[in-house]
Amino acid sequence: MTRSLSIGLLGLGNVGSALVRLLEERGAEIERLHGVRLSVVRAAVRDVGRSRGLGLAAGVVVADARAVVRDPAVQVVVELVGGVDPSGTLVADALELGKPVVTANKLLLAERGEALFALAAQKGVALRFEGAVCGGMPIVRLLREALASDSVVSLHGILNGTTNYILTRMTEEAGSAGRRAEAEGRSIRSTEGLALAPALKEAQAKGYAEADPSLDLGGGDAAQKLCLLARLAFGARVRPADILTEGIERLTPADLAAARELNSVVKLLAVARLTRGRLDLRVHPAMIPRQSPLAAVSGPFNAVEIQSDSLGSTLLSGQGAGGTCTATAVVADLIDVGRPGGGALDFVPGRDIPAVPRAEIESSYYLRFTVDDAPGVLAAITASLGRRGISIAALHQRDRQQEGKDPVAVVILTHRAQEGGVQQAVAEIDAFPTTRGRTQLIRFEG
Ligand SMILES: NC(=O)c1ccc[n+]([C@@H]2O[C@H](COP(=O)([O-])OP(=O)(O)OC[C@H]3O[C@@H](n4cnc5c(N)ncnc54)[C@H](OP(=O)(O)O)[C@@H]3O)[C@@H](O)[C@H]2O)c1
Repeated sequence: MTRSLSIGLLGLGNVGSALVRLLEERGAEIERLHGVRLSVVRAAVRDVGRSRGLGLAAGVVVADARAVVRDPAVQVVVELVGGVDPSGTLVADALELGKPVVTANKLLLAERGEALFALAAQKGVALRFEGAVCGGMPIVRLLREALASDSVVSLHGILNGTTNYILTRMTEEAGSAGRRAEAEGRSIRSTEGLALAPALKEAQAKGYAEADPSLDLGGGDAAQKLCLLARLAFGARVRPADILTEGIERLTPADLAAARELNSVVKLLAVARLTRGRLDLRVHPAMIPRQSPLAAVSGPFNAVEIQSDSLGSTLLSGQGAGGTCTATAVVADLIDVGRPGGGALDFVPGRDIPAVPRAEIESSYYLRFTVDDAPGVLAAITASLGRRGISIAALHQRDRQQEGKDPVAVVILTHRAQEGGVQQAVAEIDAFPTTRGRTQLIRFEG
C-alpha cells in the first residue's frame, strides 16, 4: 500500500533545490520501489521573488517559515536553512506539533542536538539527519544500524571535502616536484610545489570551496561532524568547543614534500578514540602512511574508517558534500519516515565521557623549525627536546645555501612522546632569538 507524505521544505538553496529536482526525477520510482509518495506542499525561502527554475506550483513558496511548519497540510518538516537560529526554533516547533523532522544541519545538531533529540523522543516522532554528516555517505546508518551490536574502539575520518581537495592537489604537485628534483639529482626546494592559496583558488573555481572557506580550512566543519559521529559511536555528549581543532592554513609545500619523503601523505584527520574510559577527540592535519586506506581518498571525497571489536576495520567512503548527494540522504530519511512506524529512532541520552587531556595525547611528531643557520642552533633545539624526554628519530636540515645567510628549515621527527612536553619544547624554541618563524607541528597517525 502506498503511503503519502506531504513535505514542508524550509530552504530552497543548494540542497533544498536539489531535493525538489530529485523528487521530480525519481519520485515515481521511489513510490514504486518503497511505497512512499513524497510531495513538497509548502516551501519557505528568504527571497520569494527570486526565480529558482523549479517546478513547484504557484503559492507553494512563501517567506514565512513558521507558517510552513504550522500548516496542517504539512506532515513532515525538512530543515535545509542552516545555522542555529531560526532553524533551531523551527525544528523545535515542528517536533512540539508532533511532526517528524529531517535535517542536514550539522551545526544545529552539534550545538543543540541533545535537547532536540530529547524533544523528538518525548513527542514520539522522528528527527533524522543522515545528510548532516558527510552528505550522501551513509555513515549515520552504518553506526546506528549495521554496527549497533558492535563496540566501536576508534574512528578516523576525512570529513571535509574542501580541505581534502586542497591537500590532494598539494600532494600531487609535491610529487611532481619531488620526481623532477630526483631526476636532476638534487633535493627539492621549499619554494617548489603548490602553495595553499592557489590550491584554494582552484577548489573555489571547481565549486569545492565556498567564498568564505574559513570553517572548512580551520577544521570547524569537521569538528561539527565529529561531534555527531562521537555521539553515534560512543554515546558521548560533545560540543565542537570540546574538540582539539587545528586547520590546514599553515601547511606549506615543504611539509607536503617532507610527507612524500616519509612515505606518508598529509590529511585533515578527525580522530575519535575511546581508551580506558577516556575519549580522545581531535581534528588536525596528520601524516598518515601512504599505503593506508584513508591515504587513497582523494579530491573532494570523504571517508571514515572505523575500528570495532567484532568487525575489525570498516571503511566507508564517498561524496561528502554537494546539493544532490546531500538531497539523496535527506530523501532516504524521508522514505524511512514514510514507512510504517514513522522512522522515529530510539533516544538514549548522551553521557559525559572524560576527555584525554591535551597534554597526555601520545603521538610521534614532525617538527619543522625555521631558524638561523648558525653554530649552536641545532644543539639548543635538541637540548630543549631532550630536557623533556623527547627522543629524536631523525633530523634533516633543508635549504642550506651559504652559511649564515638565510634562515634554514630544520625538520625533526620524534619517537612517540606526550603532547604536553612537545608543546612546551616548541614554545621554548619559538622564543629563541635564532628562531625565524613559528614551528610547524604535524602529528603522525596510524
Ligand atoms: N551544500 C552542501 O553541500 C551541504 C552538504 C551537507 C549539509 N548541508 C547542510 O544543509 C543545509 C542547507 O545548506 P545549503 O547549502 O542548501 O544552504 P543555502 O544554499 O545557503 O540555502 C539556504 C536556504 O535557506 C533559505 N533561508 C535562509 N534563512 C531563511 C529563513 N529565515 N526563512 C526561510 N528560508 C530561509 C534561503 O533562502 P533564499 O534562497 O531566499 O536565500 C535558502 O533557500 C545547511 O545546514 C548545510 O550545512 C549542505
